Amino acid sequence: MSAFPSVRRIKKEDFAEASKLHARCFSEKQYWSQACFDKYFSKETVFGFVSICDAQIAAVVVLQKTDEVAEILTLSVDPDKRRKNIGYQLMLCALEWVEESGIKEIFLDVAVDNEAAILLYKKLGFREIALRENYYVRATNKVNAYVLKKHIIATAAKDHYSVD
Ligand SMILES: CC(C)(COP(=O)(O)OP(=O)(O)OC[C@H]1O[C@@H](n2cnc3c(N)ncnc32)[C@H](O)[C@@H]1OP(=O)(O)O)[C@@H](O)C(=O)NCCC(=O)NCCS
Repeated sequence: MSAFPSVRRIKKEDFAEASKLHARCFSEKQYWSQACFDKYFSKETVFGFVSICDAQIAAVVVLQKTDEVAEILTLSVDPDKRRKNIGYQLMLCALEWVEESGIKEIFLDVAVDNEAAILLYKKLGFREIALRENYYVRATNKVNAYVLKKHIIATAAKDHYSVD
């Protein structure tokens, strides 16, 4: 892998590659097809960013915003490129955009058994606020989800985020 990946806004031309990455990160029922990316990004409230590494998409994050609140719809990092800080850096860029958009709070759902994602979000300052029972339907069972929230605190230094 080359130097640290760059992050940029997702483009329509990325949807096919982003969908292939998503399929490697989620089950057949959960992954987003190219048509699904098309559908989400047809809404003006949906935004996304990709990490580019060696001219390929290494990670994707998609957010939805309404007035002063945002929600993470999905986050995925190439299974071959995990534990290299890519998810964390991509989320920092997304949070910077959220802050610049004047958003005050950001939410997400995460399966209670997704330890990697929970630790990532907690490192970014997200905190549990609720539990959704049987939220994720898997092949053989249902799994609860935590609702996590982070207050966005505007900071003078753009490379730092306060953890509340
Ligand atoms: C969760 C996910 C996005 C993490 O991406 P990543 O690029 O590997 O994570 P990073 O390298 O940026 O790790 C940042 C922090 O997250 C936590 N973390 C990430 N992966 C972890 C793991 N496998 N075990 C423990 N902690 C982990 C750690 O706190 C880590 O900080 P540290 O390196 O100082 O310990 C990635 O595993 C993934 O795509 N998973 C499948 C899809 C998914 O579950 N998405 C989230 C749905 S809500």
